[in-house]
Formats: sequence, C-alpha cells, structure tokens
Amino acid sequence: MVKIAPSILTADVGRLADQVREAVAAGAEIVHLDVMDGHFVPPITLGPLFVQAVRKAVDVPIDIHLMVDRPEAQLRPFREAGGDTINFHYEATLHPHRLLGELRQMGARAGICLNPGTPVTVLQDVIADADQVVVMTVNPGWGGQLFIESGLDKVRWLAVERERRGLNLTIEVDGGVNLSTAPWCVGAGADVLVAGAAIYNDKGTVAENMRALLQAVGR
Ligand code: DX5
Ligand code: ZN
Repeated sequence: MVKIAPSILTADVGRLADQVREAVAAGAEIVHLDVMDGHFVPPITLGPLFVQAVRKAVDVPIDIHLMVDRPEAQLRPFREAGGDTINFHYEATLHPHRLLGELRQMGARAGICLNPGTPVTVLQDVIADADQVVVMTVNPGWGGQLFIESGLDKVRWLAVERERRGLNLTIEVDGGVNLSTAPWCVGAGADVLVAGAAIYNDKGTVAENMRALLQAVGR
C-alpha cells in the first residue's frame, strides 16, 4: 500500500516538531527530510541537529534525502542523528555501489536518488544493493515546483526490474506530487510519495491536505 512522506521544505520550520506531528497524526507513515549543502544544489537547509529534533518528535521512520556533494562524509552523521533510510544522489559520487554497502553496514536502509536528467538505466548494476530508489520528478533544490512527467517512465522501468529480478526495493517519487500527479505515480508502480507543498500550504490544514492526498491514492 502506497505511503505518503511529508517534506517540510514549505512547512513553518519555527514549529517544526508540531508540523511533523500534525502530518503523522493525519496518516503520514514516513517523514522525509531534505538536506541541501549550497553546492550540489544552491540552497542550504538542515543538518543532523534538525534530524535529532524530528527523531524526538515522532516515532515513524525518517527518510533522509542528501542533496550534498561528497555524500561519503555525511552518511554516518545523518545515520547517528536518527535517519532510518539514507538516500544520496547518484550524481554526487563516483562510488554509488560502495556507499550503498556502507549504509547497510551502518544498519540503515540504503537509498539512491536520480535527478530528472539522469537515465534510470545507470542504476542497472546497483539496484540489487539498494533498499530504495528515489526518482526525482523535479530538479532538486526547491519545494513547490511542477512535476516532470518523464519520471513516470523511470518508475515503470524500476518496477519491471524489481519484478524480473525479485528485488526487495522501495520506489519513491519526490517532487511535484499533488492530488493530480499522485495517482499517476501509484499507477506507474511507486510505493512512497514525498509531498511538500501539497501538505504544507495555506489552502488547507495539514490534516485536510493529508486526508485528500491519501484519498487520491486510494487509501
Ligand atoms: C526538492 C525536494 C523535495 C521537495 C518536495 O529538492 O527534494 O523533497 O521539496 O516538495 P514538493 O512536494 O513541494 O515538490
Ligand atoms: Zn526530497
């Protein structure tokens, strides 16, 4: 059954703990935290201290999205801060296979993310060693952008490979997920949908927005 993972980029970060608690109370089963370093992507967001704060606030698994250069140096700090799944970008390292192995050795679920411009087939030789693939359906860096539809073909390719090879792989879609695009992602084979602006906006309460999204994906 598909899960919704709120991203707090457009939340009121002055009330971070409350904002994630509200989403979890309304049915979020994962919290997605976007880590940006000002190099891999222009903005700078949050570090391990924020992860610790969220770890204390809620009991659900924390999904860390590392949009950072040299992710090798950041795996352990974010694992120790409380990350359950740690996702680094394929484009940010020469050694994706090694990093996936290191994450599993740390007891984390190992995740790898793909930018919209990167073909999914580059993952051919690493998906057997990953617990999750994150298909970016926006260019990373900002919340509230438009969904890039070519990501759906990547989700379909991953779902076929997973089936063909009997892999235990979670397929996550990140970026531009809303009431219209969420059903497309589910139809393509996604298991987890990250949603930021669709949950944290001024059109509805967090609870109302969560309920609408869950309903859109048939839950
Ligand atoms: C983009 C982030 C996403 C994004 C999700 O760099 O990785 O997690 O903020 O937010 P929305 O749903 O607003 O696209
Ligand atoms: Zn993200």
